[in-house]
Amino acid sequence: MQSKAPRGLRLGLEGCSGSTSLAARAKRGMSVLSALLLCSMALASPQFQPGAVWLDSAGQPIQAHGGGILSHNGVYYWYGEDRTPGGTGAVACYSSTNLYDWQREGIALDRSALPRVAGQRTFVERPKVLFNGRTGRSVMWMHLEQRGYHYARAGVASSPTPTGPFTFLKAIRPITNDFNFESQDPNQQKELGGTVRDFNAFLDEDGEAYVFYSSENNWTMYVVRLNADFTGPEAPAIENRTWARILVRRMREAPAPFRYNNRYYLITSACTGWKPNKAGYAVAENILGPYQEHGNPCTGQGSDTTFGAQSTFVLPWPGRPGAFLFMADRWNPSNLPDSRYIWLPLLLQPDGSFTIPWHDRWGLEQ
Ligand code: GAL
Repeated sequence: MQSKAPRGLRLGLEGCSGSTSLAARAKRGMSVLSALLLCSMALASPQFQPGAVWLDSAGQPIQAHGGGILSHNGVYYWYGEDRTPGGTGAVACYSSTNLYDWQREGIALDRSALPRVAGQRTFVERPKVLFNGRTGRSVMWMHLEQRGYHYARAGVASSPTPTGPFTFLKAIRPITNDFNFESQDPNQQKELGGTVRDFNAFLDEDGEAYVFYSSENNWTMYVVRLNADFTGPEAPAIENRTWARILVRRMREAPAPFRYNNRYYLITSACTGWKPNKAGYAVAENILGPYQEHGNPCTGQGSDTTFGAQSTFVLPWPGRPGAFLFMADRWNPSNLPDSRYIWLPLLLQPDGSFTIPWHDRWGLEQ
């Protein structure tokens, strides 16, 4: 794909790419030939290295936090929060054909395209993109926020191409019901409906699209079916028909939905800001629920904090039914651009349960 060794290969090859390391290996008693052999074996199998700095094909750290992946026409597009120091991107887009080597396509949504509200700027968290087969457009949904986290809207943008630039369309609260919200609520839920914070979007096998988001000031999750062009909620919105309250009063966030064997799975985190906590998952026969809650899918050391990370997306493992890639963010609140990506294998068992074990390095060719 690139002229130099692709990054995924380089990830799995730490210490193999430079002549110094070859010399060092040779010094440690290994012949240059066997050191070379080791390196070429590693070259043959690219690997993910959860938590390491992940460079794009231009050698820059990937900036796609709180991200998600669109698979379209044989290309993976990874969208996420662009926290490039000094940059103007709200959302960055990267492309890949193998999930290891990512080329930066540029800024998919520029900060200058976002609305200013009451004289204050807005910002984007957890952007996700769906391709709409009816309109041929790529539609981006996101958590659109302002300082203080009271704005709490969904932002919607669209583009004729997956790489953008996307045009910002609107900022909304998709569900406007008043569930006896307080009248002095700084989040204005009585007037506007339930808040929108941690966010995901999901395209079902029948072509219907849904958004999942932490609502009611993070107390309850909403799942909402979208209209035909994916730019708003299906109207009229009818509870338990076009949308539903799920994980009611459970205070969950970071929703990462996926589907397998006619079951809907939803990984979530607890609500502790940038600090990592224990994940949990829930399962339903119907996307609108009811969802049955299960425990923490992560296993082994670090599992109590999701390995220091927080869920953001689950991607089907290409060509391997029942297997998925779990994607999470290891936030670094004192240097958010340096937050790292934790991608781990997620394997469903015949009984529908699954675990997420840690791997220092792993590859899709297992
Ligand atoms: C987390 C959330 C992140 C970000 C952060 C801000 O709970 O998952 O997306 O909003 O809070 O503190």
